[in-house]
Amino acid sequence: MNYRHAFHAGNFADLVKHAALLQLLARLTREPGPLSVIDTHAGRGLYDLAGPEAVKSGEAQAGIVRLMAAKDAPPEFAPLTAAVRKLNGAGLPRRYPGSPWLIAEALRPGDSYLACELRPDEHAALQERMRGKRGVRTLLADGYEAAVAQTPASGRALVLIDPPFERADDYARTVETLAGVRRRNRQAMALVWLPLKDLETFDGFLRDLEDAAPGPLRVAETRMRPLTDPLKMNGCALVLLDAPGDMAGVLEAICGWTAGTLGSGGGAQVYGL
Ligand SMILES: C[S@@+](CC[C@H](N)C(=O)[O-])C[C@H]1O[C@@H](n2cnc3c(N)ncnc32)[C@H](O)[C@@H]1O
Repeated sequence: MNYRHAFHAGNFADLVKHAALLQLLARLTREPGPLSVIDTHAGRGLYDLAGPEAVKSGEAQAGIVRLMAAKDAPPEFAPLTAAVRKLNGAGLPRRYPGSPWLIAEALRPGDSYLACELRPDEHAALQERMRGKRGVRTLLADGYEAAVAQTPASGRALVLIDPPFERADDYARTVETLAGVRRRNRQAMALVWLPLKDLETFDGFLRDLEDAAPGPLRVAETRMRPLTDPLKMNGCALVLLDAPGDMAGVLEAICGWTAGTLGSGGGAQVYGL
């Protein structure tokens, strides 16, 4: 496991994922009844944009730094930019919130959050960040297995799956996990993040998912450039299982601005399956 999210925190893909996550959570926490959120690949929770990894990659400069300075970003980004401003105050952002931070801040009393992380060093940092937060548990564990075992058998649940995709089986394990989660709780919703390299791999994933975990899917592609080189991350995709219907417009705004403003020659597509 070589992947370190510190190199990528606050990049275009985090903006898409975190803006959509906050919009989804806003809708789910407006509904009555407790919500359980399970994050299979949590990371460390908070990232230092002045640290050597972020400085070396420059990805946050091309992502969150540009979003915070933008005058034309759609309002669908407002919850994310507010969270970044709350952490940093005015001026250039030096800290960027990961999914655990954003989820823990969004939940209500009575909701719960389980954050899974497999790397001991990342988990130790996560545990420290989440200390004292109400309704939050962290697990040093394989998130795919933990999600199936720990999704509540009834009630509203959201599973976030955000693997590094450094292993070839991350696609298959994501499908298996969602099948297991939905067998356990038919009401469980999901948000999955994937890289967009070539369309064959992505379409294969969608076909397998439709077979293994039937339910309404909303797909949002953010293409940062034309998909001509399958060895590069040419963009990213979100796949939402059983999400509220009005997320379609939200995703169009978020992915459209990201591809149009931060990308070059790509575009966004949002569709249902
Ligand atoms: C893309 S990062 C997660 C970022 C985080 N979801 C966020 O949005 O802030 C992926 C994380 O998954 C961890 N990881 C890799 N394989 C894992 C597994 N099987 N179970 C749990 N965590 C895993 C990596 O160490 C890394 O910290």
